[in-house]
Amino acid sequence: MDLPLYEKIANQIEQQIQEGIFLPGVKIPSVRKSSKQLEVSVATVLQAYSLLEDRGVIKARPQKGYFVQENRLKLSTELPLETVKQEQSVHALLHKLLHVSQDENIVQFGAAIPKSHFLPIRQLQRSVGRLMRLEPEICAEYEFTPGSLALRRQIAIRMLDSGCQLQPNDITITLGCQNALMLALQAVTKAGDTIAIESPAYHGVLQAIEVLKLNAIEITCSTVTGLDLDQLEMANQQQDIKACIVTPNNQNPTGATLSHQARQRLIKQSNDHDFIIIEDDVYGELSYQDKRERALKADDVYNRVIYTSSFSKSIAPGFRIGWIIGGRFQAPIEHLAYVQSLAIPTLTQTAIANFLENGAYDRHLRKTRATYQENLARCQEQIKAHFPEGTHTSTPKGGFLLWVSLPTDIDTMKLHAQALEKNIGILPGLAFSLHNQFGHHFRLNYALNWDYNTDIALKELGKLCYQQVSKN
Ligand SMILES: Cc1ncc(COP(=O)(O)O)c(C=O)c1O
Repeated sequence: MDLPLYEKIANQIEQQIQEGIFLPGVKIPSVRKSSKQLEVSVATVLQAYSLLEDRGVIKARPQKGYFVQENRLKLSTELPLETVKQEQSVHALLHKLLHVSQDENIVQFGAAIPKSHFLPIRQLQRSVGRLMRLEPEICAEYEFTPGSLALRRQIAIRMLDSGCQLQPNDITITLGCQNALMLALQAVTKAGDTIAIESPAYHGVLQAIEVLKLNAIEITCSTVTGLDLDQLEMANQQQDIKACIVTPNNQNPTGATLSHQARQRLIKQSNDHDFIIIEDDVYGELSYQDKRERALKADDVYNRVIYTSSFSKSIAPGFRIGWIIGGRFQAPIEHLAYVQSLAIPTLTQTAIANFLENGAYDRHLRKTRATYQENLARCQEQIKAHFPEGTHTSTPKGGFLLWVSLPTDIDTMKLHAQALEKNIGILPGLAFSLHNQFGHHFRLNYALNWDYNTDIALKELGKLCYQQVSKN
């Protein structure tokens, strides 16, 4: 039997609430507005709202309207993991997991996002405030591709530290490093092409591969030596590989940094086997040593390296400012960037350019890198003390990500679900491969304000691991 109209409307609104469109405590559209939107009478909407009140979904506040009840049903982003696990693609799952990364109540070991404490938020606040006061018209201007000249100049200056001698015209500003990686892949490949990637790999690369319908060969990336160049050589002998995406400095998730010899060999291989290197250097400035590692781009003797990076890990992920140095692909990359977004936000580009100009960035980096190093030591100590025998961790020389390998009978998808119930977020190893690998690994972000609660959370994680070991 068909439901009465008011009940259908009530169900529709309840579903919107469950999907998190209207959050607990938030006002839903007024009776009059809903009646207009849904093209039904005011009386029908009133009936629907009253049904929702009976169900305890919404509550009327006199003179104010209708509000979603606090402590409502779990939102879709909080689905228990068993439900999430039924999704086909790891990357559909990832989409849901990353939503959890916004939750303030969760200890955020999961997402690769530094706590705001490690970002120069105050300086940026002053800079944006000043800009809006003194130059409000910048909001009315497009900063067309390739982006702000002042910012590209500053990037060219900074990149001297990585060994690259660049002109501002060699650089195109992008919407973060993810956008830069997409542009590089789009410029170099077409659907059906094969590329080589690190294994484990940054999950954003896996998602880009899915969207662009590329084939990926996963090349082992060790926590100590990084990309296995023998394997890459073999893959090149067997297949036509168009590009290889590599993070030479502080790889996500293994933390590995390539040696000088490996870099030379990789560059030579790219020429011998005619493939393009897409360098992801998003953690390059976060090396713990005084002098940062060189970029591969600095030794790009064959003009085969496309360099990508961003300020997301060190200044402001929310500003979405990255860049790409396309080399021989610069013109098509710039065209693609222009067609896809026309321009990059003027306000955030200018604020970052001003921040870089005033010279505070290096001081900021020194401080954060030192704290990351301290956090790493504490983290490794806690894991050693509280996790089962057979647990190993990586030894990053920069960045803020730790790759943890647990005894093989521990399932980190399960661990993730159990940890979330205790308000602890981790990213399970499965998210770092297209081939159902790393089921007993997880990645841990230590760019957090390390305190008593963080220590407790790690101890709790260790306990959950022990529980799994004893059940098996
Ligand atoms: C290795 C790596 N590359 C690229 C990105 C994307 O950076 P952005 O936030 O600037 O798009 C990330 C973000 O986590 C990353 O870890």
